[in-house]
Amino acid sequence: MKILVINGPNLNMLGIREPDIYGSQSYVALCSLIEDYAAEKDVEIKIFQSNHEGAIVDEIQAAYGDFDGIVINPAAYTHTSVAILDALKAIGLPAVEVHISDVSKRENFRQISYAGMACEKSFIGLGFEGYLRAIDYLAEKYA
Ligand code: DQA
Repeated sequence: MKILVINGPNLNMLGIREPDIYGSQSYVALCSLIEDYAAEKDVEIKIFQSNHEGAIVDEIQAAYGDFDGIVINPAAYTHTSVAILDALKAIGLPAVEVHISDVSKRENFRQISYAGMACEKSFIGLGFEGYLRAIDYLAEKYA
């Protein structure tokens, strides 16, 4: 099974950005956690991060025919990007949404998730653990 993990803008700043909300662990630590877990579960993984909406759309399109599923934390684009929603719908791969923080308890503008409309499942507010749960979900359902 081959899973693409996509992280949106400012997630590369984990550990520095708002540690009270996102924790003190770095983006490199997140990537290692995901890679080690995937190896344990015999899942092939690619992790992609971009601060640019179009680059994320390109990466989703390129996953077509190459990956079995997508784990996506679109970060701020969650709440604004119809382009990312459309890209996920266009390729039709099973997708799971992850948010480190509990967006349901945050500002009003975070209460809509466009990408979530194309996702089968969401893991929200579980910190880094959400990514591992998303991998489990896809591996158990589609491997
Ligand atoms: C986030 C939540 C978003 O609202 C925010 O813009 C992010 C991170 C999260 O993982 O909790 O950048 O997606």
